[in-house]
Amino acid sequence: MNEITLGGHILPANFMNAACSIAKTPEDIAALCATKAGAVVIGSITPLPREGNPEPRWYSGNGFALNSFGMPNGGIEYYQNELLNMTTAIREAGKVSILSIAGFSEPDYASLASLANENGVDLIEVNLGCPNVQIDGKQKAIASFDPDYMYKILGGITASTSLPLLVKLSPYSNPADLQAAATVITETPQVIAVVTSNTFPNGYALANDKPVLNVGLGGVSGPSLKAIAMGQVRQFRSILPHTVAVIGVGGIESVNDVNDYILAGASAVQAATLIVRDGHAALDRLAI
Ligand SMILES: Cc1cc2nc3c(=O)[nH]c(=O)nc-3n(C[C@H](O)[C@H](O)[C@H](O)COP(=O)(O)O)c2cc1C
Repeated sequence: MNEITLGGHILPANFMNAACSIAKTPEDIAALCATKAGAVVIGSITPLPREGNPEPRWYSGNGFALNSFGMPNGGIEYYQNELLNMTTAIREAGKVSILSIAGFSEPDYASLASLANENGVDLIEVNLGCPNVQIDGKQKAIASFDPDYMYKILGGITASTSLPLLVKLSPYSNPADLQAAATVITETPQVIAVVTSNTFPNGYALANDKPVLNVGLGGVSGPSLKAIAMGQVRQFRSILPHTVAVIGVGGIESVNDVNDYILAGASAVQAATLIVRDGHAALDRLAI
């Protein structure tokens, strides 16, 4: 096992689940605690409960997956009752707890950070890269493409918690946008890691001449994302200070994939498509 230290916490292994649709309930967390992962990521969660987008909202294709879940979760009211039990179970399993938070405004993120403070969370992952959320029928802008908004969100969070922060980003095709995000992160000392990448926005696939997802467009994940996300890891590693770790995510399904990401500059890795498709226990395919 490859032990690593993140934000002052020792993770007994360098892999974990990525935030996804099967990391939100006590049953999901129990299943993740039973794996050999070094940490458990809970969420993403939002302040208000969300049903997410209409089904079908998940498609597993040849070498890729497409989803438009839209972050269904129980909201702060639900997690006020459940979160402490979840983080306690994670600690008792010898792992580190990470809460993935997602908001629609700066106060949203700040209120979720306060929830983390009160419920035994070890680290907060700030999801700035979710592409699959509709508000009033319109797709929400992706926060990680707007450096000023990133400063505001992170400023609100750091005023509400002293917990170490991981920042999860959308993949950037423009290297200048990636550099701008790296500058925000470098200037926010509470950020101890970037997590790259969230799904590639607005993919589209057909089966039998029909869109595979109800809402049409969805986030692309799985093996087809690996070269893109490894490129993000490589670029961030070369420009971020070494006080900021890089966590790789995108198309990781085997120990071989984990090794590739480590060579590209990642300190740890996450996987979502692997477990959404094959079940929580599939995470152990990443154990050495
Ligand atoms: C079904 C599904 C739901 C997801 N939900 C979230 C989420 O709530 N928050 C988040 O930050 N990322 C979410 N993601 C993105 C993953 O965490 C990950 O960044 C992306 O899928 C790439 O990794 P993979 O190729 O291992 O799936 C989701 C991915 C999938 C497949």
